[in-house]
Order: sequence, then C-alpha cells, then structure tokens
Amino acid sequence: MVTITVDDKPLQAPEGSRLLAACLAAGIYIPHLCHVPGVDSPPASCRLCFVAIQGQAHPVTACTVTVADGMVVQTDTPAVRRLQRSGFRLLMSAHQVECCRCPANRACALQHIARFLDIGLRSRPYPTRLKDAAPDTSHPFLVHFPNRCVLCGRCIHVCRERNGASLLAFSHRGFDTVISAFGATGQTRLPCESCSACVAICPVGALSLKSDLDPDQGD
Ligand code: FES
Repeated sequence: MVTITVDDKPLQAPEGSRLLAACLAAGIYIPHLCHVPGVDSPPASCRLCFVAIQGQAHPVTACTVTVADGMVVQTDTPAVRRLQRSGFRLLMSAHQVECCRCPANRACALQHIARFLDIGLRSRPYPTRLKDAAPDTSHPFLVHFPNRCVLCGRCIHVCRERNGASLLAFSHRGFDTVISAFGATGQTRLPCESCSACVAICPVGALSLKSDLDPDQGD
C-alpha cells in the first residue's frame, strides 16, 4: 500500500493502482465517463477526470496516473473545474438532450456530472452539433443512438471481456465516429440478448435492447 493525500486527507491505496480508482474507492468523487475498473491502458477519452498533483504544472487525468507514495492531490482547484466544465460542455455539444425519452433518465452519468459541476446539460457557450445519424437498428437485439453516445468505449470493453472478442467497435472517424456492431447478423450465434452487458455499462442510455424500447423509440 502507498499513502497519498487527497484534498488534505491521507489515503491508503494499493501500490500500482490508478489515482482515479483509488479516489473513487475512498468515496472521493471525480467526474468520469470512460473509466472501467481494472483496465491496463485507460483510453482517457472523456477528458473529465482532471486533478491537480503537487509538483505538476498542469492538471492531469486521474485515470492515467499511477499512485505514488507521498503524492499530494487536489480534486477541486479552479483550473481543474475549468477543464472539467469545458470538457463536459464539449461532450454535451454533440449530445442530444432528450432525457424524458431516454431510459437512462435519472440514472444518467451526464445528469450526475452536471449536478456535481453545478452546470446545466446544455453545451453553452459551445454550439450544439449533432451527427446526421439516425438510431442504428441493424443489430438483431440492440439499438444504438449515436447522438446520445459519448464514445466512452465501455461497451466495447465489456463485450470483449464477456465474449473474448468484442461484437462492438468504433467505426468512421473524427466527428462521425460511432459505435457499430459489424456483421452482427447471425442471430442464433449472438449472446447479446441474454448478455446485454453493453447496455448495462453504458453510462448514458446510448444502447438499448430492442425488447425494452417503447414502440416509438428507435425511429
Ligand atoms: Fe479519465 Fe475519462 S475517466 S479521461
């Protein structure tokens, strides 16, 4: 174990563990979307989990930092909050806010983070720019909503863990990047309907089982 100090409180953490995981395990919340416990190479794609570490010139992402004995961390400096709020608003600039129609409503990580950062769900001052992409209903059991998806990649990770190889993947590039289920056509071979781990791990309601959707959803 190593001893670190977070927000002026001492904290024991397993040697080799990531700072974000150590803080979350100790009940210290840091906004995050792409973190999956135990992953060796965190994607650090959501750019929300910033913290300030003594001796470092700029805030860093806590999910990519390995704890070290004597490390001194602040989770709530003005610079940290500025980065988190900007990162969150950028995410929201490509997110369709339709909470009333979304199965994640009230359990959504975005709603939680907005409350924590004391900002709304709108992207202001950044303009909202949604993908020209309808919900993807091509999978036998799943529907993917590209404009709800925050591209955290947690669904891909959990699918790979469960099934040895992921049935889901990122496709396209840049702003047009989406989650796709390439070739998921052989209904009898797919564990998706009984597994649905990707639906469970999605932090924002971007994936749903067709069987769970209202008939007017996915249109
Ligand atoms: Fe660290 Fe997403 S949890 S960048």
